[in-house]
Amino acid sequence: MDLNVTCLEYVRARSVVGNVSTTQGDVLELIEWTDARFDSINLGYLLYCVPGTMKQKYRVFENLRSRLNDGGILFGSTILGEEQKPDWAARKLMGFYNSEGISPNAHDNPDDLRSNPETYFRDVTI
Ligand SMILES: C[S@@+](CC[C@H](N)C(=O)[O-])C[C@H]1O[C@@H](n2cnc3c(N)ncnc32)[C@H](O)[C@@H]1O
Repeated sequence: MDLNVTCLEYVRARSVVGNVSTTQGDVLELIEWTDARFDSINLGYLLYCVPGTMKQKYRVFENLRSRLNDGGILFGSTILGEEQKPDWAARKLMGFYNSEGISPNAHDNPDDLRSNPETYFRDVTI
């Protein structure tokens, strides 16, 4: 799932397995297009592209939790805007991305990320 159709087309074209399905959708909205549940869901470099505070981004966890099978795993990666020590090139790039609203992560920080994922998940590792 992605907001961007181009990304989805690329995934389908590159997939080496036959049963990949893709859908255009917003992870901030309730997923009502399927009853399917999954053993794992990957949020690969997604949260730093989602607008809002890190606590508002928790909406993603709330939405996706219901799509996991019992014992399922939600995993992923993101880029935090605070409490990191990026080099000058990364700082410049992230400054540009933030100013353009491409990656609104300037105020994403580890404390907010850690604030209460246990509300949604039994075992949490960050
Ligand atoms: C940095 S890319 C990562 C793409 C891919 N997961 C990867 O690891 O290569 C971030 C992706 O998040 C998508 N995205 C941003 N906000 C989204 C939202 N609210 N719902 C679904 N996808 C979103 C963007 O369209 C973009 O393709």
